[in-house]
Amino acid sequence: MRSYSLIAPAKINLYLEILGDRADGYHELAMILQSIELADQVNIRAIGTQTIQVHCDHPQVPLDKTNLAYRAVELMSQEFPDCWAQFGGVEISIQKNIPVAAGLAGGSTNAAAVLVGLDMLWQLGLTQPELQELAAKLGSDVPFCLAGGTAIATGRGEELDPLPSLDSFYVVLAKHQNLAVSTAWAYQTYRSEFGNSYGRSDRASKSIATEPLNTPTRVHSGSMVQGIINKNGSKIGQLLYNDLEKVVLPNYPQVLQLRQAFENSGALGTMMSGSGPTVFALCQSQEQAQEILQQVQSAIRCPDLGFWVSKFARHGIQIISPQKSLFIGNRE
Ligand code: C5P
Repeated sequence: MRSYSLIAPAKINLYLEILGDRADGYHELAMILQSIELADQVNIRAIGTQTIQVHCDHPQVPLDKTNLAYRAVELMSQEFPDCWAQFGGVEISIQKNIPVAAGLAGGSTNAAAVLVGLDMLWQLGLTQPELQELAAKLGSDVPFCLAGGTAIATGRGEELDPLPSLDSFYVVLAKHQNLAVSTAWAYQTYRSEFGNSYGRSDRASKSIATEPLNTPTRVHSGSMVQGIINKNGSKIGQLLYNDLEKVVLPNYPQVLQLRQAFENSGALGTMMSGSGPTVFALCQSQEQAQEILQQVQSAIRCPDLGFWVSKFARHGIQIISPQKSLFIGNRE
């Protein structure tokens, strides 16, 4: 088979706590990540020339090396030079539905889809741990995007522990289309402003932290995880948490305004996803999500503001063509 089509879901952060600095320049994190049905479609096709071609129907998506999907092909060609020589280059076509530069891992999930697509196209038969290792080389969120569902993510974000699935919940997402927040800026600003008090916030200690800093049980034993195990929407809603809000909300009044509008909307809870600027509201049902969308839409009348309603998903990358299947890797 010379081409594959894959579904690449977005993610939201139900929980993001910054625990400390790492020697590699990144931050030690404790996160709970959730896939949602809002997804891009990534088509990958073998072409005769030894080139990488990226196409996308969204004008803000770069088509060069700055696109993580492009870098995923580059990485695979370096790791498997014989396949690159044997099968030739690839063309990647991305049908963009996930808002761009939004804190929803749109670029990361496209890269995860490329890894799965090339594994199939080049008949590599990589195991799930092998794919996860390649994914971690591309970015901190790429391993989660590959696996999907609901998971605790620690380390840089690449160490995953799956949680029971939460697929009955809905979210309303809102983002100012022309607003982007640099992830590197958000983390650097957090470090300079809060680096002397990592992991000591009251909110964090209530919801997740019960053990000393940087011990693995800290994240696993928290009340947020209990809420997820019990599928308790009110509890999950109350315990949504994101340390990066402390730097993004004061610097981006539009994001703060969205957060406040969602706070007053009757949702189970609301939070910024990742480094923003997308804000989401957790909802019990699709009907509730539609009501909240209309409420916030009429509260903030702004032509630049985009809204999406999506459902929690229990999967990461899915192959939809040539045959519909859930990608789970080779479980060796
Ligand atoms: O891993 P990724 O390339 O997605 O990260 C983007 C940026 O976010 C990094 O360059 C870094 O500045 C910041 N980051 C961090 N600590 C993490 C993850 C990301 O400081 N655990």
